[in-house]
Amino acid sequence: MISIILTGAPGSGKGTQSEFIVKKYGFEHLSTGDLLRKEIAAGTELGQMVDALIAKGNLVPDDIILDIIANYIDALPADTKGIIFDGFPRTVNQAIELEKLLAKKGLGAKVIELVVAEEELISRLLKRGQTSGRADDNLESIQHRLEVFHAQTKPVCDYYASLGKHRAVQGVGTMEAIFADICRAIED
Ligand code: AP5
Ligand code: MG
Repeated sequence: MISIILTGAPGSGKGTQSEFIVKKYGFEHLSTGDLLRKEIAAGTELGQMVDALIAKGNLVPDDIILDIIANYIDALPADTKGIIFDGFPRTVNQAIELEKLLAKKGLGAKVIELVVAEEELISRLLKRGQTSGRADDNLESIQHRLEVFHAQTKPVCDYYASLGKHRAVQGVGTMEAIFADICRAIED
């Protein structure tokens, strides 16, 4: 089983490119953001706990996220071809814990970072905010999400680079051209 971590700033195209990967390779897609938004929409206890954090662009505590991930990995069918982690890990602590969970199953992860300039990210997210209904797609939350990315998630890229597992892919251009670069990184 292959594990791909698709990382990058808010709006870098993680969700968009994950869908292409699912279609081509038949991998499972785990977006922690999508999963948390479903909990909020369903009004669960977890959803109520994380609602305000997500709307402002703050991270959800590691222990909540790591519980979700451990349960998800345990429940994967034995014939799973691969997993794409979209938006996880977001802190170095999450990355270290994921490495432990994967090592227990004899697995390792490849990390692909989508790199996009900040102006383009803001413009994409403001545009999406006109129709997405996402509580965090407003200028104030977008700016905070970018700060959180630089402070807490960029170090995750450095961590994987130090392990020799990190590949940067330019996330600007047509979705198809970006996907071709991602495929090269996956198959390399
Ligand atoms: P999450 O849902 O992961 O959001 P995010 O990281 O802010 O990223 P987005 O989903 O907004 O963007 P994306 O990179 O998926 O880009 P997309 O493909 O949509 O997390 C949300 C929140 O949940 C976090 O802030 C946190 O509170 C919490 N959370 C989640 N995971 C967590 C974790 N592990 N730990 C703690 N907290 C966690 O594309 C964006 C837009 O651009 C779209 O409109 C798309 O159509 C467009 N687009 C895509 N590609 C291109 C292109 N090549 N050219 C032009 N436009 C493009
Ligand atoms: Mg997304």
